[in-house]
Amino acid sequence: MFRIPLACAAAAILAACGQPTPAAVPDAATEASAEAAGQSINIYSARHYDSDKAMYARFTEVTGIKVNVREAGAPELLETMKAEGANSPADLVIVSDAGALYRFQKEGFTQAVRSEALEAAIPAQLREKDGHWFGLSKRARVIVYDPQMLPIEEVDTYADLADERLRGEICVRSSTNVYNLSLLGEFIGRNGGEAAEQWAKGVTANFARPPEGGDTAQIEAVAAGQCAAAIVNHYYWVRLAQGTTEQRLKAAKTTISFPDQDGNGTHINISGAAVTASSKNPNAAVKFIEFLATPEGQALLTSETKEFPVVAGAALPEGLEVLPEFKQSDFPLDQLGVHQPEAQAIFDRAGWN
Ligand code: FE2
Repeated sequence: MFRIPLACAAAAILAACGQPTPAAVPDAATEASAEAAGQSINIYSARHYDSDKAMYARFTEVTGIKVNVREAGAPELLETMKAEGANSPADLVIVSDAGALYRFQKEGFTQAVRSEALEAAIPAQLREKDGHWFGLSKRARVIVYDPQMLPIEEVDTYADLADERLRGEICVRSSTNVYNLSLLGEFIGRNGGEAAEQWAKGVTANFARPPEGGDTAQIEAVAAGQCAAAIVNHYYWVRLAQGTTEQRLKAAKTTISFPDQDGNGTHINISGAAVTASSKNPNAAVKFIEFLATPEGQALLTSETKEFPVVAGAALPEGLEVLPEFKQSDFPLDQLGVHQPEAQAIFDRAGWN
């Protein structure tokens, strides 16, 4: 590594100070100028939380690496990267759901990363086997139900949702949403496509209404008596339970069931990060992921989202302490995306729009 004289610290005057030109020694010169100019990384993030701004600021404070963020939905970011191709300025992609990360990987937009720190901190189930992406926070796909309408025994497995005794009682969002694709992806991986299709058809036959709205809307529909049970990610319920008086009243009318406690455990997914194939600064990008895998990074990442931390010793975000300990599925998350096309085809055949 070069030691650059103070008077020559600005990248613009490197040449005048006799440093090798980039053409002569590309790697070293790039590194030296990056250090002199102050490194930065460009993050494409599908997250949109105020707490993320604090997370970026703290990373910069700790490492000196500046962070530029482009926020958009995951499908939009994917399209952006397709348009940018090899010239994409993105160093890192942050999106929710292993199925979404898989889409970036499949397009060739991610690169394999080896990091002892990440491999030690993050359970193997929650990261791509070659390091193409790393799960950094966890979510559970649960059943939220009205305990006045149903006993827990009728909603304590995913299979229950397809049982005809729940005819006209189920609310769930569209099948085009990646959360549902990943859930069905696990069923396909575990039980095969035929069993998964039977389940999807059974649930569709039980719809209280055609799919509409996001997960929060499903919980609100249960609270309003439009349906007796809904499939949602746990944090939407936790956020309602910590929200305004009106929101807390809605949450209070409902209960969470963590399905399949006597079986495979509740379906788990992640929010995660991937270093892009086109990254000009992969080392700094890895540093950012490693920061998120520290207890401090975990707290910044999950405090507002109410996801579960993935790193041992990380504090639980406020509001999650009311949830019971539950058995989590050990299905490898890098397999969810593999089954995505089949999952969509099954949903389409089932009429789950
Ligand atoms: Fe979400």
